[in-house]
Amino acid sequence: MNKVDFEQFIGSFSFDGRLAQADITGSIAHVQMLVKTRIIKSGEGKKIISGLQSILRDLKKGKNLPKEEDIHYAVEKELIRRIGQLGGKMHTARSRNDQVAMDLRLYLRKETDNCINLIEEFQRILIKKAEENINVIMPGFTHLQPAQPVLVSHHLMAYAWMMQRDKERFYDCRKRMNISPLGSAALAGTSFKIDRHYTARLLGFDGVCENSLDGVSDRDFAVEFTFCVSMLALHLTRFCEEIILWMNPEFAYIKIADKFTSGSSIMPQKRNPDCAEVIRGKSGRIFGDLTALLTIIKALPLTYNRDLQEDKPPVFDACDNIKMCMEVMNEMAAGMKFVKENTLKSMEKGFIAATEIADYLARRGVPFREAHGVVKQIVLYCVKNSKTLNELTLHEYNKFYPKLYPAFKTDIYKYIDLKNIVEMKTSYGATSRRSVEKQINSMKNLLNRKGK
Ligand code: ARG
Repeated sequence: MNKVDFEQFIGSFSFDGRLAQADITGSIAHVQMLVKTRIIKSGEGKKIISGLQSILRDLKKGKNLPKEEDIHYAVEKELIRRIGQLGGKMHTARSRNDQVAMDLRLYLRKETDNCINLIEEFQRILIKKAEENINVIMPGFTHLQPAQPVLVSHHLMAYAWMMQRDKERFYDCRKRMNISPLGSAALAGTSFKIDRHYTARLLGFDGVCENSLDGVSDRDFAVEFTFCVSMLALHLTRFCEEIILWMNPEFAYIKIADKFTSGSSIMPQKRNPDCAEVIRGKSGRIFGDLTALLTIIKALPLTYNRDLQEDKPPVFDACDNIKMCMEVMNEMAAGMKFVKENTLKSMEKGFIAATEIADYLARRGVPFREAHGVVKQIVLYCVKNSKTLNELTLHEYNKFYPKLYPAFKTDIYKYIDLKNIVEMKTSYGATSRRSVEKQINSMKNLLNRKGK
């Protein structure tokens, strides 16, 4: 067995390379501040900054930095190689402790914005699908049993509202993330006359951490971010589960493009919903990332502890996986086609209009509880005689509630017509076409307002 490489074990170079850009951006701002506060000379600042910029350019060209304990050392050593000992002045009035906290905030801020954009894209796709299918009726389910007919659009918009909450959660998390720890130094602050607000402004932070001890030890923003990702992943699994069901030939509600599915190696008839399954599966590792972060930070005494270095693999893993999931989901959803005939057909067997008959009696003054019992008898009768609710004659209906004669009139057939059932659900947020169109409009308005 190979011996453990001790340096590699205590370092983070193998997994923190992606912070390079944030690290250099932060260093440039720090050096600008050192010049402004006359801690270093302006000529020195210029040389350091152009050295940092040349490193950044090379990194963008794909040139990697030589191995060091971590990315912060790697950048500093490279700077010194390029501009000489002067490069060592960059680290005046700073520590890797405030530096890494700042890097991670900058990095995750960008990832937060990426997530927000991907969510918005999904919302727009859902809206488009909702508009395309504004007349398509499907069974709404509770307990996965056919319950009442709803518009496919209404069902899709439910996901769009989940996404709205996810987006708001990311915006909210961003507020606490976008605070600068820079200048907290190792833990106690510094005796140099630095200007923390200046670096914060240069880096687009909304403010500075009020307490240097908190500044270097706080990773709440990383936990919150990973929670936001987890919640989003959770919502995706719910949609994936429905895609998987809807693709099942027993349902056959939707068709999705072949590239999101695969065949079976031995069963030629199968189309497996692999992409939806993989997204559903990836939620597991994302929740694992959240658990890992919580566990790493749990019970750490103030302030910086090296354990915190282990925050990066899970938070990066969550970033990478949620972005892949969202991209796949957006493409898959954009090409999803509903098969109207099948959603309709599936409602023939389910007595999906039963509630309407109970409501009908209730509107005629029968106490709802009693009406519910009557309709239960009607449904049992249908099952026994292999009839649908539409096929019962008025005479048959009226046998079930002789107390009020005739309890049922010809208009009962209108009340159990699927389209009509949906159209009658006009309460706020309900499934009638008008109500759904209203929802769609409110969401479009939200999408047009940035930062919502
Ligand atoms: N590589 C470290 C991390 O990712 C940087 C901070 C190191 N600070 C220290 N005092 N050893 O957390």
